[in-house]
Amino acid sequence: MHVILLGPGYPAEIPFFARGLANVGATVLGVGDQPESELPQLTRESLRGYLRVNSLLDEQAVINAVREWIGALRVDRVESVWEPTVLLAARLREVLGVEGMRLSEVIPFRDKDAMKTAVAAAGLRVPRHLRAGGVRQCREAARQLGFPVVLKPIAGAGSADTFRVNDDDELESVLQKTGHISEMNVEEFIHGEEFTFDTISINGEIAFFNMAWYRPPPIIGRSVEWISPQTVTLRDVDSPELASGRQLGRDVLRALKFQTGFTHMEWYRKPDGEAVFGEIAARPPGARSVDIMNYACDVDLFTGWAEAVVHSRFTQKVKRLYNSAIIFKRAQGAGRIERIEGVEKVMASFGEHIACVDLLPVGAQRRDWKHTLISDGFIVVRHPDLQATMDMADRIGTDVQMFAG
Ligand SMILES: Nc1ncnc2c1ncn2[C@@H]1O[C@H](COP(=O)(O)OP(=O)(O)O)[C@@H](O)[C@H]1O
Ligand SMILES: [Mg+2]
Repeated sequence: MHVILLGPGYPAEIPFFARGLANVGATVLGVGDQPESELPQLTRESLRGYLRVNSLLDEQAVINAVREWIGALRVDRVESVWEPTVLLAARLREVLGVEGMRLSEVIPFRDKDAMKTAVAAAGLRVPRHLRAGGVRQCREAARQLGFPVVLKPIAGAGSADTFRVNDDDELESVLQKTGHISEMNVEEFIHGEEFTFDTISINGEIAFFNMAWYRPPPIIGRSVEWISPQTVTLRDVDSPELASGRQLGRDVLRALKFQTGFTHMEWYRKPDGEAVFGEIAARPPGARSVDIMNYACDVDLFTGWAEAVVHSRFTQKVKRLYNSAIIFKRAQGAGRIERIEGVEKVMASFGEHIACVDLLPVGAQRRDWKHTLISDGFIVVRHPDLQATMDMADRIGTDVQMFAG
C-alpha cells in the first residue's frame, strides 16, 4: 500500500502517525513544506519518499507537483492528520483517483457554518447560527440571535479570533479586532460544560471512541493567560452524564457520512443535560490529545489509526484503565524561562501518577500562548478515579509555576 501523508513533520505528534503507517506495513510518501533535512528523525525513519513543496496552502501547486512526482505509481491512500491540509487531501484523492472522502464530503468538517447546517438538517441540536460577510452582517446577525453571541471565523481553529459578545459595545470592539477576517460565523452562546467526542472510524463504523472534558472551556482558557488549561480524557465513557453527548456524536458522524479515519467533535452539555453540537473535524484532536488517550487506555492510537486507514481493521486492545489529564503551563513574564517551581513538590506527593513532564527548560524562549495551546509545556497525570485525577491536575495548575524574564 502506498500512502501519501501530507505535512509529515509538523506539528509534533505527526511523526508518530507517520511511524504508525510504517508500522502497519505501508509505504509512506511524505509531502511537506519543510526541507527534508529538517524533518524530525521519526518522520525520516518512517518515510520511503519525500516531496518538498513551497507551501501546503497553495493547493493547486501541490496537486501539480504531486502528480509529476508520482508519475505512474498507484497511490492507495492520501491522508492528512492536520486541519489545514484536510481539504487538500480530499482534492488529491479526487485528482489521483484514490479511494476515500471527496472534497464535498469533507467540507462539512471544515466550514463551521456548513457543518452546523448539515448537522441541524439531521434533526440534531446546534447553536442557532448565521454566516456574516462583514461588519453590517455581523451586527444584523447578533441582533437576530440576541446576546450573548459568539463570533468566530468560518474556518477557524484553536479559538483564534473567537469572542463571546454580551452587548452592543462589546460587539463594536470585537468587530474592530476581526476586521481582517472575510467571513464570520455568529452563534447563539451555549452555557455549559464542554467536551469532545473523538473516534477512529472504519467505513462509517466507529471502531474506537474517546470523550474528553475541557477545563475550562477553550474560549476562557485560551483568552486568560494565568489559566493552566486542562484536557481530561474520561475513563467512564459509558456514564449517564455523557450519554447525550455520546448519542449526539454517533448521530453526527452518521449524518455527515464520515467514513474512515480520525474524527474530533466538540459538544456542550447544558445544565439540564442536553447535548449541543459544537464543531467537528475530519482529523485527530491536536495538542497531545492522542497521547492522553494512549495514556488513558494503554494503547497506541497512532498505529491504531494507521491500521484502520490502511487495512480497515482496528486491533488495538483498548483497556479503559485511567482518566488522563494534560495540564498546559504558561510562564509569568516575558522572554526566557528563568525558573520553574513546584515540580519537585508535586512529584513527591503524587509522582507515581504523573505520566509525563514536558516543560520548557530554563533558558528557553517562551512560546506564544495565544498561538499554541501547548504554551510553555505540559504535565500529564493519570488515575483510575476522576476526582483524584482532577485534584492532581488542579494542583499542577496552581503549584507548578514557571517564571520568565
Ligand atoms: N456557540 C457557542 N457557545 C458557547 N461557546 C462557544 C460557542 N462557539 C464557540 N464557543 C467557544 O469557543 C471555542 C472555540 O470555538 P470553536 O467553534 O470550537 O472553534 P475552534 O475551531 O477555534 O476550536 C469553543 O471551544 C468554545 O469554548
Ligand atoms: Mg474547537
